[in-house]
Amino acid sequence: MILLIFVFTITLSSCKKTNYEIPFILYDEEDLFMMSFRDSIFLHNSSDITFKMYDSTNSQIIQNEIINGVLLDSPKLIIVNPVDRLGAYTIIEKSKLTDTPIIFINREPLAEDLLSWDKVYYVGAKPEQSAIYQAELVMELFGSNPNNLNNYDLNGDGKIQCIILKGQEGHQDAEIRTEAVVNEMEENGYDLEILKIESADFRTSVAFDVMNELLPIYRDQIEVIFSNNDAMAIGAINALKEDGFFTDDNEDGKVDSNIDNWIPVVGIDGIAEAIQLIEDGYLYGTVINDSESMAKAVIELSSAIFNNEDPETISYPILYGKYIWIDYKKYSLPIFEE
Ligand code: BGC
Ligand code: CA
Repeated sequence: MILLIFVFTITLSSCKKTNYEIPFILYDEEDLFMMSFRDSIFLHNSSDITFKMYDSTNSQIIQNEIINGVLLDSPKLIIVNPVDRLGAYTIIEKSKLTDTPIIFINREPLAEDLLSWDKVYYVGAKPEQSAIYQAELVMELFGSNPNNLNNYDLNGDGKIQCIILKGQEGHQDAEIRTEAVVNEMEENGYDLEILKIESADFRTSVAFDVMNELLPIYRDQIEVIFSNNDAMAIGAINALKEDGFFTDDNEDGKVDSNIDNWIPVVGIDGIAEAIQLIEDGYLYGTVINDSESMAKAVIELSSAIFNNEDPETISYPILYGKYIWIDYKKYSLPIFEE
């Protein structure tokens, strides 16, 4: 009996070694953008490593427990999408104890935390850039002369009346996208009148509720809706549909911006659902948050760390030995382009 248990234990522990997987800890598997990020990881991984996904269910406490658990196995590295970007500090301190390198993704730790240890990296995109592209899409729509807006200035007052749907408070993308989109429009001479900025947590269902509250108040004034991400833009479109917008009068399955009680909604991310809504005429445009390239960068960097190779040899530049920045891309249909 003792011998059996002994053999069994040996088999178990050797199994563990051969089926080696890198822990990949997501902040929340209900987040549409993170799900497309995860899918890209599986789709593009042709390296010698495999990833094991964990869902922190949007709780930093649960995420910390998951990390405590995976560190017990002394993994060669971990990938973390923090629930709270400020939570990165504790995660780094813990990983130092087991000497486990960390690649953070999507939620950017503070620079001082990243700089506190040389085995920490961040793969992400710069929120200012997404805001500038989003502003450009809206400027293209309202015409190139800010002093003589076209018919999308519905009340003809020379100002663009807007609603801004903000992402989760404290998230770098929510804070910076919101501020920078307004700055960019204003720096280019476009006069914005912000009817309301409201947080909808980056979520479709919350944005739907928020828009249902705002529509009775601002319905006839809104000329554009800026959304910090596509998930919330989809929620806004659902609410607008129920309120009689996007009517598809000729029933051809597509919404026509000239005749169908159209209102421009612009998102960020480029998730599949949003691209479809652009094709069907509901969503005016989006900015692609290139999770495919991010996934490829994470895979290459992980493989280098895993194989004890110099991370600087991968095909993505690593700034200050820390940051891999992936560019955003603008996306709208050609009919809207100048
Ligand atoms: C995306 C959001 C997403 C968030 C998650 C952002 O970069 O634009 O859609 O909810 O990341 O952290
Ligand atoms: Ca106006």
